[in-house]
Amino acid sequence: MAKNAACKAYYETSYESAGFKAQRRYPNEELMRFMGRTYSSVPVADRKNIRILEVGCGSGGNLWSIAREGFDAYGIDLSSAGIEICEQMLESWGTKASLQAGDMSNLPYESGYFDAVVDVFSSYCLPEKDFVRYIDEVERVLKPGGKYFSYTPSKNSDVLKLAPSSEKIDESTLTGIHRDTAPFYGNFYPFRFTAPDEYERYIANAGQPFC
Ligand SMILES: C[S@@+](CC[C@H](N)C(=O)[O-])C[C@H]1O[C@@H](n2cnc3c(N)ncnc32)[C@H](O)[C@@H]1O
Repeated sequence: MAKNAACKAYYETSYESAGFKAQRRYPNEELMRFMGRTYSSVPVADRKNIRILEVGCGSGGNLWSIAREGFDAYGIDLSSAGIEICEQMLESWGTKASLQAGDMSNLPYESGYFDAVVDVFSSYCLPEKDFVRYIDEVERVLKPGGKYFSYTPSKNSDVLKLAPSSEKIDESTLTGIHRDTAPFYGNFYPFRFTAPDEYERYIANAGQPFC
């Protein structure tokens, strides 16, 4: 099966069948904390000069709030159905963003373009090998001193700990969530878990470390 095919098929079907209801309508709380910590002192009038990319923006439940706070918002998602819903979500909140269907491990943006890249429960869809490439891409598209936020499944999760090794693509990635009592059961595409110290190492190994 081609790279990302199972994940793409899962999300295309999900967005086509559930529309707005496929994902969140209101933004992730930790993302909002990051935004507050990083940018609350920036006057609203200056925020249009701050470019923020959400990778795996899905139906736009986070992106509209970034745009509504006055930032120059960008979103990319593997699913073109997701991007269509995202467009409608942004419109429903009276906001705009630059959207594109594409793969976060091969970002279609020039180097040093973004002030921040944010990931809310999306880069976990990449097995380790693709995740390393994705982190290099994040490093490439960020300006020097740019910021990165990621909200992603933890290696402490029983979902990983209780899975048999036959269900693993690599040490951190399951082929999908097959145990029927596990949260996210039915997500039959690569699903990766990361420990905080591992995440720090991935970032430290990127060309120019960022945080
Ligand atoms: C669980 S959803 C989260 C959506 C959104 N971030 C949110 O919080 O509502 C995961 C999203 O990641 C997207 N995705 C998965 N792999 C991707 C990839 N390689 N490149 C871009 N998007 C990807 C999926 O299509 C899906 O929309």
